[in-house]
Amino acid sequence: MIHSHRGHVLLGIAVALIPQASQAYSSTTSECSLNNLVHLLSSIDDPLSNTAKVLSVTPVRQNDSYGDPNTPQGLPPMISTQLPELCAVELNVSSSETSSYTVSLFLPTEWNSRFLATGGGGTGGYINYLDMGAGSQYGFATMSTDNGHRSAPDDIQWAYKNPQELTDWGWRAMSGSVELSKQLIKGYYGDDIQYSYYTGCSMGGRQGLKEAQLSADSFDGMLIGAPPWWLSHQVAWYSEASNVYYPVDDSKSIPSELFSTLIAQTVIDQCDEIDGVKDGIVSDTENCHPNFDVLLCDSIGSNSSECLTSLQLETLANIYKDYYVGSEFVHPAFELSSEPGWSQSLGSGLITKFATDYIKYIVYEDLNWSLDQYNSSVYEQLKNHKSSAEIDADQFDMSPYRDHGGKILMYHGLSDAVVVTRVSSYFYKQVKVAMGESLPITDWFRLFFVPGMLHCQGSQPGVDAPWHINGAGQNWLTGPGAYSVPGFEDSKHDALLALMDWVEHGNAVDQIVATAWRNSTDPSSGVWKQRPICSYPKMAKYSGVGDVNEARNWYCE
Ligand SMILES: *[C@@H]1O[C@H](CO)[C@@H](O)[C@H](O)[C@H]1NC(C)=O
Ligand SMILES: *[C@@H]1O[C@H](CO)[C@@H](O)[C@H](O)[C@H]1NC(C)=O
Ligand SMILES: *[C@@H]1O[C@H](CO)[C@@H](O)[C@H](O)[C@H]1NC(C)=O
Ligand SMILES: *[C@@H]1O[C@H](CO)[C@@H](O)[C@H](O)[C@H]1NC(C)=O
Ligand SMILES: *[C@@H]1O[C@H](CO)[C@@H](O)[C@H](O)[C@H]1NC(C)=O
Ligand SMILES: *[C@@H]1O[C@H](CO)[C@@H](O)[C@H](O)[C@H]1NC(C)=O
Repeated sequence: MIHSHRGHVLLGIAVALIPQASQAYSSTTSECSLNNLVHLLSSIDDPLSNTAKVLSVTPVRQNDSYGDPNTPQGLPPMISTQLPELCAVELNVSSSETSSYTVSLFLPTEWNSRFLATGGGGTGGYINYLDMGAGSQYGFATMSTDNGHRSAPDDIQWAYKNPQELTDWGWRAMSGSVELSKQLIKGYYGDDIQYSYYTGCSMGGRQGLKEAQLSADSFDGMLIGAPPWWLSHQVAWYSEASNVYYPVDDSKSIPSELFSTLIAQTVIDQCDEIDGVKDGIVSDTENCHPNFDVLLCDSIGSNSSECLTSLQLETLANIYKDYYVGSEFVHPAFELSSEPGWSQSLGSGLITKFATDYIKYIVYEDLNWSLDQYNSSVYEQLKNHKSSAEIDADQFDMSPYRDHGGKILMYHGLSDAVVVTRVSSYFYKQVKVAMGESLPITDWFRLFFVPGMLHCQGSQPGVDAPWHINGAGQNWLTGPGAYSVPGFEDSKHDALLALMDWVEHGNAVDQIVATAWRNSTDPSSGVWKQRPICSYPKMAKYSGVGDVNEARNWYCE
């Protein structure tokens, strides 16, 4: 299961307590032993420590690798490479009579006195060694949990009649892992943690928000990407949207290949230039109201790849429509410029299957439930199901987190078709309303949209939008040992460093420069485009002079 180049993996549980060596942090390598970690765990004055067991302790030498080569389907091998010298610790925490979760820690020898918790993705079901490794390059003591089960990111079948595992995934594993990690880190280094941070995208973003809502002092700063914080509502909306579009052989249906061609192009044609530059990257979606009537087929013989019938235009309008049940707002619809990704989210795509499975396994526990049974009664069931309170991060009054000094830096790709972009602006507005205007929300919470970015990373095909800001998971793509924004390890380009500067020095973040390389996954190919992303509701405008691919020719307005 756990792999290390030197095969130095200790499984099993030691019970003997060994007298402890010095805790000076310069000599941590000698303390990277099972005996020491077992001793540290037993000396923690926290009920959690009684339910935890040390599974393995592995000293990792500088430039070595550590991780899990056999990840569930849909994930890259989670092997972190070119690591700094560190101690890798695996723990098992029993969370109920029938459930348990794994916690992994990387404890670097050269510690920066800070803690970084990392999140997962989808429902997975795995330890995020890649983000842990990237964090340890800065000197963070890093943590990841498997959330109590092992699964592919889009697999929710494990939750069927398994409420304890669902609770672990909803919040309990993250909550316990953060608490336990902090205690162990303090013991290991013999010193207090100066600052605690969180980084997670997608479901990892939801996990971070949920943790901060449950436990205000867990983190001092959180970098949150594209969070499906309203998962129960999102599942309802995906079901509704897919039914609007279904069945595919109906005359109202739109062939899915038209999403990324005809429809995406129409949006670019009508929206792209509003930000001042015609480059295929749509930035100003709020001020764009495309007229799709230009696509109406003018005669029976029209080429069906080049136009839409009036029935299809109606379907398109419904896909863009926010979802209401009666007068109740359920969920916002897709953002403009997300069209190329719709084929995975509508019809028979992966996301539709996830939504269907969620209702089938969790809400109705009925293996025969199918999407064509979806209607607004199902939404009511979803919303009121007991799991929703454990999973949705919808406690908008986050005053305890703010008052503890916590900051949030949140980002979301404008072209995201997996987690609808506008769910982030909705969250931001709800938090603002819930907490009142006496203190400006921008004092502690800022939101950034990344034009052209897909879900968490990557550009909409064909437009090569800059997107790399060191969000969680972004360095999975940029090669072994990559961390920060390769070549730009500073707070102007790296959102995690910008967040630290805000938390630790009070420098609020107005903009972050996003980067694209000539080969988007190979920084050594050279920088191609850089452009600022701006604190919402500001957005980047081209100054009108100079190279549009240089950040200094743009400003936030
Ligand atoms: C680190 O390991 C990589 C292989 O993972 C190797 O190519 C590189 O030469 C090593 N660097 C040093 C400084 O040993
Ligand atoms: C963790 O502990 C539980 C309860 O003791 C046990 O059932 C489970 O198999 C353990 N998991 C691992 C990975 O050791
Ligand atoms: C219809 O339009 C598509 C896309 O523009 C084109 O590839 C195809 O050749 C056209 N078909 C006909 C019969 O003109
Ligand atoms: C599911 O459908 C099968 C076949 O139609 C039927 O035999 C079975 O009883 C159904 N199960 C439930 C839980 O309704
Ligand atoms: C939804 O469908 C179920 C049966 O599948 C039906 O009993 C219920 O009345 C429907 N609800 C609405 C609001 O249409
Ligand atoms: C981009 O870089 C990656 C990693 O170096 C390489 O595998 C890939 O082939 C490159 N793509 C192109 C189009 O050159």
